[in-house]
Amino acid sequence: MSIKKIDVGGEYDVIIDEDLLGRLGEFLPQDIVGERTAIIVTDSNVAPLYLETVKKSLAASYENVLDFVFPAGEHSKAPEILLNLVRFLAHQHVTRSDVIFALGGGVVGDLAGFAAGIYTRGIEYVGLPTSLLAAVDSSVGGKTAVDLPEGKNLIGVFKRPAAVICDIKTFDTLPALQFSCGMGEVIKYAFLSPGFADLIDGFCDNKADISELVSACVRIKSRVVSEDFLDKGARATLNFGHTIGHAVELLSDFSLTHGAAVAVGMAVLVRAEAPALYPRLSAWLSRFSLPERVGYAPEDILRAAKADKKRGSSGTTMVFPHENALGTVFLRKVTDEELLNIITRGIKL
Ligand code: GLY
Repeated sequence: MSIKKIDVGGEYDVIIDEDLLGRLGEFLPQDIVGERTAIIVTDSNVAPLYLETVKKSLAASYENVLDFVFPAGEHSKAPEILLNLVRFLAHQHVTRSDVIFALGGGVVGDLAGFAAGIYTRGIEYVGLPTSLLAAVDSSVGGKTAVDLPEGKNLIGVFKRPAAVICDIKTFDTLPALQFSCGMGEVIKYAFLSPGFADLIDGFCDNKADISELVSACVRIKSRVVSEDFLDKGARATLNFGHTIGHAVELLSDFSLTHGAAVAVGMAVLVRAEAPALYPRLSAWLSRFSLPERVGYAPEDILRAAKADKKRGSSGTTMVFPHENALGTVFLRKVTDEELLNIITRGIKL
């Protein structure tokens, strides 16, 4: 296995390989190490597995290493925990020249990145994703946020990390359900880039390894993000399968993982709009134990989709696959009537 270094729009690098957590100093940009404090932010699931290793590793590059551990789970992606974190930074006299390390999955990355974006108007942070989902999606692209009772991700900032260092060995400790969840987002990339589908087939046949898969996802995502960092246009294509996916995730009261919900979202959309592509998608979903169907009524799915904050007042911008060109998509605004029609057809077929 060889180390993969991906340049994200000339802004920062994503490093992907195994056993990186114990030798982080080799990969950190030189301008963020030295006589400074490193603050490791992580959760109660990840801390027992990797906190000591990361502390030791960073002690070689920083004068002082602190840690902030919060209870694992989506409920921690909340303003209260964010405030606890920034107050911790203040009590520890953290300054703008210090560096936050986000060690964990999507919730850790969102919280730590948000804190880095607002504490003293911005300090550097480094992503250390430990889940497949975070590695292929949330750790790249600089979106950070916490949830409000009124909705998910309602407050946040765009804040680029100084680097992302992804130790794929950490996926070995992921529960099977979480690995499948990550594969839901991985499969999405087959619709966003020609040729990626063959890489998934190669991975299924043990001809490609996980680091190749993650690197290809990061390359595709970073290309899209560098075109539209602030999410005003093309970045929306990364939400392939998410309009219906978010709706079923909400209806399941989050008992479906995000990746499983996206899997259903892709399956319903592809069955309705690009049926020729469905057999290949279906084979991948079943290979990674991801669902293709849910029992909700189309009207309920539409209602939940309408609650999504990404929806404009005059309809929903959706990402559609080109049936004759797997790996290419287009954006189109649909009315509620059209969306209901797509959901109804996609569920029935
Ligand atoms: N997860 C979609 C994005 O980063 O824009």
